[in-house]
Amino acid sequence: MKNILFVASESVPFIKTGGLADVVGSLPKYFNKDEFDVRVIIPKYLSMPWHFTERLEYLTNFYMDIGYRHKYVGIFRLVQDGITFYFIDNEAYFGGDKPYGDLKYDLEKFSFFSRAALSALPVIGFRPDIVHCHDWQTALVPIYMKDSFRGGEFYQSMKSILTIHNLKFQGVWDVETIQALTGLSDYYFTIDKLRVEKDGNLLKGGIAYADYVTTVSESYAEEIKTPFYGEKLDGLMRARSNNLCGIVNGIDYDVYNPATDDRIDFKYDARTFRKEKYKNKVALQKQLGLEVNKDKFMIGIVSRLTDQKGIDLVAYIMDEMCSRNDIQVVVLGTGTAEYENMFRYFDWKYGSNVSANIYYSEDMSHKVYASCDAFLMPSLFEPCGLSQLMALRYGTIPVVRETGGLKDTVWPYNKFEGTGTGFSFSNYNAHEMLGAIDYAKYVYYNNKREWNKLVDRAMAADFSWKNSAKKYENLYNWMLSW
Ligand code: ADP
Ligand code: GLC
Repeated sequence: MKNILFVASESVPFIKTGGLADVVGSLPKYFNKDEFDVRVIIPKYLSMPWHFTERLEYLTNFYMDIGYRHKYVGIFRLVQDGITFYFIDNEAYFGGDKPYGDLKYDLEKFSFFSRAALSALPVIGFRPDIVHCHDWQTALVPIYMKDSFRGGEFYQSMKSILTIHNLKFQGVWDVETIQALTGLSDYYFTIDKLRVEKDGNLLKGGIAYADYVTTVSESYAEEIKTPFYGEKLDGLMRARSNNLCGIVNGIDYDVYNPATDDRIDFKYDARTFRKEKYKNKVALQKQLGLEVNKDKFMIGIVSRLTDQKGIDLVAYIMDEMCSRNDIQVVVLGTGTAEYENMFRYFDWKYGSNVSANIYYSEDMSHKVYASCDAFLMPSLFEPCGLSQLMALRYGTIPVVRETGGLKDTVWPYNKFEGTGTGFSFSNYNAHEMLGAIDYAKYVYYNNKREWNKLVDRAMAADFSWKNSAKKYENLYNWMLSW
């Protein structure tokens, strides 16, 4: 049996702010259980729903030194869907109403968490062969493994992987602060390790120290070697290219399944969508106070409303798109106030055709995926993107910009060959995007047969974890053969 430990700052079903949680919570279920024992360790957030918190089993506690601090570490456990989850407890750090907040304090919290996760292992009696970390919050783990934990026999020969879900977030602060929070010596704060210009950078350290680095799509793995997508680390990404690869994300096909999903009003599958799917649209139109019209082309957005997601392109063409009265736009998202208010304004202006739902709701997201005809995701950059995979699964045709994982998972419609699962555009340009939306709308209104075939192909595309879990298994096996 090979032991693998996922270390991450969020995981479904316990706590989620984005796709990271979906990946961390679903991927472990899809490994071959006869060969791999994959467990997960995350913080025990006070903001986790109570029905989980009350089921946690207390294991033990100890005190740990980090920098000049001496801190309480509690450990809890819960087996969920056959996967063992461990939770690191320290209420001073993980209290509060959400997982992330002030960055400087987050740096302290996740330095603590990274060290505590490693320190907890002998106590809980689980010795991973590979520690698999995710994003900047746990990027210190590979560094600590080669620093303070190197001596002990327990940790010797343990290997590390860092998966980059988003290179934009790196965990950066001035060197003195990072040094004080992490307790790492001067040795680590040179330009080939944790330093970028005058600052300390946790993600950079993790990339430099992990035995292997992955990211969440093949295209993004290439893009981040270029200055545009490299977020100042493209040189390091190129330097590590022999130990860097992209493995595209999957989604949990048990959770995202229109045939069994209790969150949607009318269930359907690849055979019945022609007769059933539109009923969800009508139900959503009624629920949101939109014009009730089963034939109207409805386009959905479920997204963090930030610059990454291309929301400025949408803002630019909203008037042009909505004033023609042949499209409905349903938005579900939260983010920067400017984008939230932009959608509220268009909701006010085009009440019967635009619905802005500025909140976070898992239930509502499923309804939007199931109800819409098309799904808009014009990201500036997208390491993988899960929303377009969810849309495909529900037969909702993605309209995407050809970048990162969007390019790898949505195949543009080709009317001559009768291929493709979506519509795409290449340049970060609002009217190029509008052109793709208009093309989708044209096919929807004027060639329903072709549209339905697009839906057939979208629903047949397989982005379950089956293939990608196999790729991670191969990677683990290869690393353990070194
Ligand atoms: P990212 O992780 O960059 O935000 P992904 O596409 O990988 O983008 O994952 C986004 C995840 O968050 C999806 O599961 C999506 O359904 C969900 N999501 C985003 N915004 C909301 C929201 N307002 N309500 C419910 N789910 C949301
Ligand atoms: C990040 C990326 C997103 C990716 C997700 C899960 O949040 O922005 O593209 O799908 O992580 O890997």
